[in-house]
Amino acid sequence: MTNISILGCTGSIGRSTLSVVRSLKDRFSVSALAAGRDLDGLAKQVAEFAPTLVSISDERDIPVLREKLSGAGIKNLPEIVHGQEGLIAVACHDDAEIVISATVGAVGFLPTYRALKLGRRVCLANKETLVMAGELMTKAARESNAELLPVDSEHNALHQCMRGEHKSELKRLILTASGGPFREASLEAITKASVEQALAHPTWQMGAKITIDSATLMNKGLEVIEAGWLFDMSADRITVAVHPQSIVHSMIELIDGSIIAQLGVTDMRLMIQYALTFPERLPTDLPALGIDSLSKLEFHEPDLIRFPCLKLAYDAMKEGGTMPAAMSAANEIAVAAFLSKSIGFMDISRVIANTMEAHETESASSLEAVVEADRWAREYAEGRLKGRG
Ligand SMILES: NC(=O)c1ccc[n+]([C@@H]2O[C@H](COP(=O)([O-])OP(=O)(O)OC[C@H]3O[C@@H](n4cnc5c(N)ncnc54)[C@H](OP(=O)(O)O)[C@@H]3O)[C@@H](O)[C@H]2O)c1
Repeated sequence: MTNISILGCTGSIGRSTLSVVRSLKDRFSVSALAAGRDLDGLAKQVAEFAPTLVSISDERDIPVLREKLSGAGIKNLPEIVHGQEGLIAVACHDDAEIVISATVGAVGFLPTYRALKLGRRVCLANKETLVMAGELMTKAARESNAELLPVDSEHNALHQCMRGEHKSELKRLILTASGGPFREASLEAITKASVEQALAHPTWQMGAKITIDSATLMNKGLEVIEAGWLFDMSADRITVAVHPQSIVHSMIELIDGSIIAQLGVTDMRLMIQYALTFPERLPTDLPALGIDSLSKLEFHEPDLIRFPCLKLAYDAMKEGGTMPAAMSAANEIAVAAFLSKSIGFMDISRVIANTMEAHETESASSLEAVVEADRWAREYAEGRLKGRG
């Protein structure tokens, strides 16, 4: 039996992970779960998976959660911890051999980093952590021999394509992007886009932040940086192709011109199971990808005028150091402001661009530098939003 811990258990990836665990309960059990504010969701998961440790974001919610757990008739109540230290405790739980990193944004960075330092297998969905601190995270993994396995569908696909290939024979990575809900919209229409329109993703069911990131194409920008760290590739060897069908999850091109692609259904359980069971492959009960769905596969170049966030991410990657951390933090602030309807859709890229222009890049080889860049960028972006910047 392999024990796992899940950071972000109540989110889209967290729930899909538990669905995989449910289908493979003779192989996996849950040691620890970390949620944010969804106490009802967490209580149900505790009743079903019986972790010995749970974490929630706010200490004031602990009595409420305790009451819900007692009310659900759970005999062996788990230990309840909270906040950043709680997330770290879940990530570093003694029994957990695998940690699923699936919180959203920078909050997942320290817990994920600590799990890597302990040499745990980390199945990484929380891409922002690698964007902000790729150097530190990959160094920690190397030094402790931790496996850092991508859950993100594109990187998971690249990992699959790369099996058996020599890195020296790799020419470039081709990340596919659905193009989001505004793929065919005019710049004028995108400028007026509502939150509801931006949240209506055409092919994937995901949490709110990543859905907005998909609409701006910042998600693809974050993924370009993530791919750079995971596969040790420079920005000029990572291409993005808009592929509205989301069937080809990504491709690699080899030096002889051959292209290898991974195709599959749009269900994250496929990638989560791959990362959990690697190097083994097990059957799933997911629907098969019908051959007729392959009759029309389109690939286009992304439009950087309507989707400036993708270019900003390439710029941040080329600049390196703390710039990606600053960019990602500014994006979190801007997306939250858009979701609360205080700014328009195109303002998201403006806030990020302004923050990047003002950021003084430093080396990102220390924890302190990364944390400070994240803090500075949030404060600066919030200042811009309040009109003070
Ligand atoms: N969804 C996908 O298909 C997908 C695909 C590829 C990559 N990813 C990446 O995976 C990550 C998670 O995405 P998601 O779509 O699953 O997001 P989501 O549905 O919004 O879930 C986020 C999870 O993080 C928890 N959380 C948020 N803030 C927290 C805090 N301060 N402390 C502790 N927990 C906190 C939430 O808890 P509560 O709900 O309890 O508040 C929830 O469990 C993101 O980095 C995303 O880019 C997602």
